[in-house]
Amino acid sequence: MLIALLPGDGIGPEIVREARAVLDQVCGDRLRYEEAAVGGAAYKALGHPLPPATLELAKRADAILFGAVGDPDCDTLERRLRPEQAILGLRKELALFANLRPARLFPELADASALRPEVARQIDLMIIRELNGDVYFGEKGMRTTAAGRRQGYDVMAYDEDEVARIARVGFETARARGRKLCSVDKANVLETSQLWRDVVTEVATDYPDVALSHMYVDNAAMQLVRDPGQFDVIVTGNLFGDILSDQASMCVGSIGLLPSASLDADQKGLYEPIHGSAPDIAGQGKANPLATILSAAMMLRYSLGMAAEADRIEAAVATALAGGARSPDLGGTLSTAAMGEAVRAAL
Ligand code: NAD
Ligand code: IPM
Ligand code: MN
Repeated sequence: MLIALLPGDGIGPEIVREARAVLDQVCGDRLRYEEAAVGGAAYKALGHPLPPATLELAKRADAILFGAVGDPDCDTLERRLRPEQAILGLRKELALFANLRPARLFPELADASALRPEVARQIDLMIIRELNGDVYFGEKGMRTTAAGRRQGYDVMAYDEDEVARIARVGFETARARGRKLCSVDKANVLETSQLWRDVVTEVATDYPDVALSHMYVDNAAMQLVRDPGQFDVIVTGNLFGDILSDQASMCVGSIGLLPSASLDADQKGLYEPIHGSAPDIAGQGKANPLATILSAAMMLRYSLGMAAEADRIEAAVATALAGGARSPDLGGTLSTAAMGEAVRAAL
C-alpha cells in the first residue's frame, strides 16, 4: 500500500520522521512511501503551497501522512499562496469531510493536564469536526464600506446535506462507543447553527439508541474544562471543532499528543497531528512526535485495515509514557528523536 508522506513546514519533517520510523518497524515493506513538498516549503521550492504533483500523489495514495504547514515568512503572501491553503485544499479536493480528533488521558499524564488530575482522569472523548464547509469555505474578502472604511468578511454557511452527512458520522461513532452524542452549535445567534441543530435532530430519528444532546459552543468550552468526563462524542462545525480540539488537547496534557483522521465517504484519509508547524521550536528537537505517531496508528486502523498494528503502536506509546518518556511539553527533557526511540523500544 502506498503512503503519501507530506512533512511540510516547521516541526513537520521532525515529527513525520519519527512516525515513519515507527511504521517501518511495525509494517516493514507492506507499506511503500512517496514524499512530496507541501506548504511553505513547497511555495519556496515550487511557487505553490499545493503543487499539482503533490495533489496527484495524495489522490493516488492509499493514505496520506501529513506533518504540518505554516511559515511566518509566508504570512503576508496573498492568501491563495499561503501554506495553510495546502491543507485546506487537500481537505476540499479529496472531500475529506469528517475529521476525527480523539482525546483520551494516558493515566500517567494526569499531572501534565492543565486540569486537576481527578477531573482529567475522566477524559475519553472524540471530537467529530466537519471539515469541508462553514466559514472556512464561504465567500470571503476585503471591501470598502460606504463610509470608506476597510471591511473584511467571511460567510458562514452549511447546507442540510453537509450537516446530515457529518451528523451520521457522529451518530455512527457514538454507536460504536458510549452511545452519547453532543452536538455543539451557536443556534441562539446563528442561522447556520439553527439549521445545524434542526438537521442533527432530524437525523437522530435513525439512531434511537444514541442519546443526543445539544450545547452552545461557549458553554461547551466551559464544560470541557469543568467536567470533560461528561462527553463521549462531540459533533460540531469546522470552526468550533478547530477551537475545541486545541482546548481538549491541553486537558489531556499537551497539544503534542492529539492525532487526527480526516476521512472521505470511503474511509480514504489524511492523518495529521492537530497542532501546527510550531515555528517557535522548529529545528530544536523539542517537538513531541506522539501526536504524529498516534496519527499513523489511526491511519493503519481507519484506512489500511491494520487494526492489530494500530493497537501495537498505541500500546507502545502508553508503555513509553508509563516508563517516564517526556518531551519538554510534558515537563521532561527528551528530544523528538528520543521520544520516537522510546516508542520503538516499547513495540
Ligand atoms: P501550533 O500548534 O503550531 O503551536 C502552538 C504552540 O504549541 C506553540 O507554542 C508550539 O511550540 C506548541 N506545539 C505545537 N505542537 C507541538 C508539539 N508537537 N510538541 C511540542 N509543542 C508543540 O499553532 P500556532 O503557533 O498557532 O501556529 C503555527 C503555524 O502552524 C501557523 O502558520 C498556523 O497556521 C499553522 N498551523 C497548521 C496546522 C496544520 O498544518 N494542520 C494546524 C495548526 C496551525
Ligand atoms: C488545524 C489547523 C488548520 C485549521 C489551519 C492550519 C488551516 O488549525 O488543522 O486545526 O484551521 O483547520
Ligand atoms: Mn487548529
